[in-house]
Amino acid sequence: MVKEKKPKKKPGKRGRPSKPRKPKLQKIKVQAPKGTHDILPQEQKYWDKVRVIVGNIANNFGFGRIDTPIFEDVRIYIKGTGQTSDIVQKEIYTFKSKGGEFLALRPEFTPGIVRAYIEHGMRNLPQPVKLYSIGPLFRHDKPQAGRYRQFHQINFEIIGDSSAVSDVQIIQVFVSILKKLNLKKFYLYINSIGCLICTPKYKKILLGYYRQRLDKICPDCHRRFKENSLRLLDCKKEKCQKIAKEAPQMIDFLCDECHGHFKETLEFLDELEIPYILDPYLVRGLDYYTKTVFEIWEDKEGNSQGALVGGGHYDNLVEMFKGKPNPGVGAAAGIERIINSLKKQDVKIPEGEKPRVFIIQLGDLGKKKSLKLFEEFQRNGIRVGEAFSKPSIKSQLKIADKEGTEMALILGQKEALEGNIIIRDMVSGAQETVSLEKVINEVKRRLKK
Ligand code: HAM
Repeated sequence: MVKEKKPKKKPGKRGRPSKPRKPKLQKIKVQAPKGTHDILPQEQKYWDKVRVIVGNIANNFGFGRIDTPIFEDVRIYIKGTGQTSDIVQKEIYTFKSKGGEFLALRPEFTPGIVRAYIEHGMRNLPQPVKLYSIGPLFRHDKPQAGRYRQFHQINFEIIGDSSAVSDVQIIQVFVSILKKLNLKKFYLYINSIGCLICTPKYKKILLGYYRQRLDKICPDCHRRFKENSLRLLDCKKEKCQKIAKEAPQMIDFLCDECHGHFKETLEFLDELEIPYILDPYLVRGLDYYTKTVFEIWEDKEGNSQGALVGGGHYDNLVEMFKGKPNPGVGAAAGIERIINSLKKQDVKIPEGEKPRVFIIQLGDLGKKKSLKLFEEFQRNGIRVGEAFSKPSIKSQLKIADKEGTEMALILGQKEALEGNIIIRDMVSGAQETVSLEKVINEVKRRLKK
């Protein structure tokens, strides 16, 4: 028989074998990618509040939730959002899959939702179809206040109705959400950018105006002059803004249909007593819009984080994806920006309810029985606090006190052996021993008081 050789133990200082050495770990410094952020537990109350309010309002207005994939065929954005838009030119994250498909992380919801509308034959449902989404989006923008590379939107779309009523309902939904969130002030800016019939005529006039001022505009506007003339109007550079303010206005060139549609939109807003500011230079940065476009801002003068909400009407997007011609309207709000505004305007969001009861354990048996008792409380729908990792009664009581607990349930070795537990009133300090079997009913009785 071959005997296995025992590894030789190295003698330690006093001849005893020394402890095995922990192998050296390879360490790396890690942090969230630029432009992304973690949503920590203390922030979640804002997110929960937004989600609950959005869900309720969507339900009240008859919108159904749709969740589309986070990545899509890149062509839906090139065609939908627009080849000359900032999103497609500078911000979209694209990648080739292992199967060779050319995909993009969604930079906005609208093209994906319109794709789903066509793909699932929603045209055959009673029209219009009202859909909403909530989730993350990705744009490779320069990170700054309110501008992230991964951010979240609330998005609402009404597809299958050309009338101004749907435009106004979308605005009404977002105004209701902001009001329900107790945002104290915000301003709605609105414009009409016309349709395939009247916009090209206006663009010609606009280009004529800018042609004589090319030496006064920024390099970006030179690009817009060639590729996307409407966007000349919303350049943020001071010298370009001066020129835009003198430019001919779209409103004077709207065709009869677009004029009537815009007039009706404003009349409905008046009826609903939703205040608005007519902004002839509002053009939006996405190519699919026709007729109404609007944005909601926290400040009148504009601010560094940008618009809270942006949206508009789109007559041709469904048709562009080979669907039967069908107009739509929608808008989206950035959740991070809304939360920034809530904080800036000092809107208080109550903390989630804290447990009113706290289990305190001592010794091995006390801990074992406490784990079981904790589970029984869960089954009975009673939230209890715990600090099972803390061995001392003092440190556990300190945590229970900090959390504002009304009752502590103390389960030491002695109580565990006798099948009892101590109920301590955290305010008066009064203690009473009760049988473990009866503790849940006793806690229920005391909580009801
Ligand atoms: P958008 O104007 O590109 O429109 O975005 C809507 C909102 O998303 C903005 O007003 C802002 O609150 C937020 N947002 C946009 N980019 C960022 C970013 N980098 N970081 C943080 N928040 C951001 C759309 O996305 C259209 N799809 C809206 C729409 C729906 N139009 C018709 N239907």
